[in-house]
Amino acid sequence: MDMEYRNLGRTGVKVSPLCLGCMMFGNRTGPEDSYAIIDRALEAGINFLDTANVYSRGESEKTTGEALKRNGQRDKVILATKVHGSMGEGPNDRGNSRRHIIEQCEASLRRLQTDWIDLYQIHRPQSDIPIDETLRALDDLVRAGKVRYLGTSTFAAWQCVESLWASQRFNLNRFVCEQPPYNLLDRRIERELLPMARTYGYGIIPWSPLAGGLLTGKYKRNEDAPENSRFSRRQDSPRVTPAMFDGVEGLQPLADDKSCTMAQLALAWCLRQPGVTAPIIGPRTMSQLEDNLGALQVTVNDQDCETIDRLNGPGQAASPFYQADFGPHQFPVE
Ligand SMILES: NC(=O)c1ccc[n+]([C@@H]2O[C@H](COP(=O)([O-])OP(=O)(O)OC[C@H]3O[C@@H](n4cnc5c(N)ncnc54)[C@H](OP(=O)(O)O)[C@@H]3O)[C@@H](O)[C@H]2O)c1
Repeated sequence: MDMEYRNLGRTGVKVSPLCLGCMMFGNRTGPEDSYAIIDRALEAGINFLDTANVYSRGESEKTTGEALKRNGQRDKVILATKVHGSMGEGPNDRGNSRRHIIEQCEASLRRLQTDWIDLYQIHRPQSDIPIDETLRALDDLVRAGKVRYLGTSTFAAWQCVESLWASQRFNLNRFVCEQPPYNLLDRRIERELLPMARTYGYGIIPWSPLAGGLLTGKYKRNEDAPENSRFSRRQDSPRVTPAMFDGVEGLQPLADDKSCTMAQLALAWCLRQPGVTAPIIGPRTMSQLEDNLGALQVTVNDQDCETIDRLNGPGQAASPFYQADFGPHQFPVE
């Protein structure tokens, strides 16, 4: 499959237009299936993998690292992981402090069985720590050769810009990309984050591009969720609403016109949005991966986008995904 690799933000590093999310691996997807999914994704040309220390408390990183050791492809892959979430019960076992970041970077390197992390991301903003403490710890990791690039996840646009200002002021490596929730049911990042990213050369790698599976069309109004599906395990999810079904159902005719699945339409739409580098897919099974890969063959033109905009308006959220800590926080000081 021909793959059109894209620069990750303003960096020179090239990534595939789909990133493989590894959140299911070592969790609902067992080890052998996880290795097979990773191998198949790499064979199809995906060179970008995303995990986090907190996914199944290290098990996703361990499974991903083992897959890369077995297939010998570590040096071909842009490997991304994250720090911030709780890895223990103590007050210092979480967050964006220098202490926790350096400790968890070492732990991630061990779990991933590698000497370096290509993209190390701060999983969430934290309001009681000035961003310069976080940036200085990350900068030291880059200078020590343990990390190549730095990123954020679920930061507000103003928090990204503030961090750029701090990097410039203190001569520290800057964040090169942001990982926000973005899909056809939650287009809020079009208001500020995407224009910010295009202005400042930030890469954008959206998580949950299928809204956790809602955009596959497999959930039906007034019916139980399919067995073993993600939302059958979260029956009370506030995301499963009549407005969500309104947003999803109108997409099926467009997918039918294009002879593709709704998931492929949703992914193809996401990866063509101006400012988006690579949506992060999260297949749980091999057949889901095969379906998701098919999105690379689907063309979404301007007319399709207009149709989609009438169903799910620009900047709107039929089913809001997530609200991060966007409140005021410690101001960076010298
Ligand atoms: N930074 C963050 O805070 C954050 C948060 C979440 C995720 N992420 C990253 O983003 C990645 C993707 O997130 P996500 O898993 O929520 O992405 P998603 O693409 O929105 O949802 C993936 C889920 O949809 C269902 N699915 C996918 N393709 C399907 C198909 N063809 N047919 C039927 N069902 C299908 C599967 O769930 P079921 O089969 O279980 O229904 C699958 O696990 C993660 O792996 C992780 O790397 C980051």
